[in-house]
Amino acid sequence: MNTRRKWLLAAGAVAAGATGGLLWHRRGEELAPDRPAEPPGPAPVRDPAFPNALRLPGADGMYGILDVGGPIAIVARPIQHALYPGKPAAMLGFEVQHQGNNYLNPLLRVRRGTTVRADFWNALDETSIIHWHGLKVDANNDGHPHYAIKAGATHAYHYPVPNRAATYWYHPHAHGRTAAQIHQGLAGLYLVDDDEDQALRTALDLTTGVTDVPLVLQDKRIDGNGAPVYAPTEAEWMHGYLGNDVLVNLTSRPHLDVTARIYRFRLLNASMARVYRLAFTSGDRSLEFALLGGDGGLLPQPRAAQEAYLSPGERLDVALDLRSAGSGATVTLHSLEFDPMHHDAARSAREAGAAHAHTRHHDEGTANPASAQPAPIPDGAALELMKLYVYPARDPARELPATLSASEDPDFSDASVRRIRIDHHRMAWRINGRLFDMRGIGLTVRRGAKEIWEIANPADGMPHPMHIHGFHFRVLERSGSPEQVRRLALAEHGLTASDLGWKDTVMIWPGETVRIALEFSHSYLGDQVYMFHCHNLQHADRGMMVNVRVANVNGTGYGL
Ligand code: C2O
Ligand code: CU
Ligand code: CU
Repeated sequence: MNTRRKWLLAAGAVAAGATGGLLWHRRGEELAPDRPAEPPGPAPVRDPAFPNALRLPGADGMYGILDVGGPIAIVARPIQHALYPGKPAAMLGFEVQHQGNNYLNPLLRVRRGTTVRADFWNALDETSIIHWHGLKVDANNDGHPHYAIKAGATHAYHYPVPNRAATYWYHPHAHGRTAAQIHQGLAGLYLVDDDEDQALRTALDLTTGVTDVPLVLQDKRIDGNGAPVYAPTEAEWMHGYLGNDVLVNLTSRPHLDVTARIYRFRLLNASMARVYRLAFTSGDRSLEFALLGGDGGLLPQPRAAQEAYLSPGERLDVALDLRSAGSGATVTLHSLEFDPMHHDAARSAREAGAAHAHTRHHDEGTANPASAQPAPIPDGAALELMKLYVYPARDPARELPATLSASEDPDFSDASVRRIRIDHHRMAWRINGRLFDMRGIGLTVRRGAKEIWEIANPADGMPHPMHIHGFHFRVLERSGSPEQVRRLALAEHGLTASDLGWKDTVMIWPGETVRIALEFSHSYLGDQVYMFHCHNLQHADRGMMVNVRVANVNGTGYGL
């Protein structure tokens, strides 16, 4: 059968199957919604190694879009879910029933300023709590591990959302169990919307789940039956638990049909420990993308970039103009090879007495099909994450606006400086020489204070994506950066694409000192306790976290 004939048959099949508007892209069928009836050019060559249609947020089900107006009830519970076609497996999920729809890990869409009421019911057989990663809420609503509730218990959230529009996310945060619960499936997206974001979506004619596409990158350790298994060795607690498959939106080896127009991709690294070095190619040509924003919302103007690191917890908001690839093209989203810089890997693996061989070559993630559990893909290995097949667009061409946001650069000239030191001791990573103490206050800052934190990571360690709750910051400077990071600098002071705009998570590579600027202002009365921690989830679960008290007193800020 020739390609065109196959194509027409496929188009007919989808038209017949499409009963409701949202159904057909939610179910991940082969056709993009605005594909014309007859392709004028050659069809893209489809790669059999990427057989699965990317899961997209639709009207309900897994990742279904839930516009949060009134109260919602979220249940964390065991579910059966097929990550691989035809292989339902035991996982965990956030379940929401709302206005007749059933959602799993819903994409919560919230207008800035909305007051959210969410009742959380922990139907797991262990302690849990929901943390809203990136939201500037008060400590009672933050989901700090101190608030973790027992199996069967409930916790009521009630908070206004003061955040700028951006891609945030939510996940469990029970101390020692965060990684396990996220790995087994508990994580969802939380998109805040405001006028500036609305203006961008109007200018580019973007629709969530169609042309404004979240991409949740998560590697998982999958057993021979297609089920995720969380069982880190001692060495993996130290280095991070790496998966043997990298999923995008819980889809293995995904492809997405797109049209030759501008798409927005909101990338979230929801992996436990894996870092991605993201780039798009068409054939052997690297495709430039426009950086729109980071963790905390839109940049003033888009910035051109070729690649970006994305460490656990971080988000990148990018626009990709697929007209530059052209219809008929196949575009690949890569994680390019890099040195993962696990510098004490050999030594600590020996200390742990664990066999934890890091091989440097790419095993394609499939390994030996005869073995029950394929070996993990090494951190830093070159990976093809997703294929985009470009079809002709019939919607009118739109251009990226020159200005995205009117937000101004804050002034940190009067900020005081605080030094934060990362080290390791007896197989655990520490902040300022200490492990997490649930009730102890590691850092105290004064409400309203402006501070510059100089975070130093020793050269013989490993990379740490450092995250703060309750506030966003600016990255001022990277120094001592390894060559593979320095090479990506696109702004002064060594800043890379992942460092621009407002951030809540920043990668600190071995040997680096990174200066970040924070303003601890919010409208909450009384002392608020948040936390600062590594978002390598094995590191966090083993105590690479510190409580941060924001003291609501005048002029008595005191240090560690
Ligand atoms: Cu996403 Cu305390 O973290
Ligand atoms: Cu967080
Ligand atoms: Cu770490």
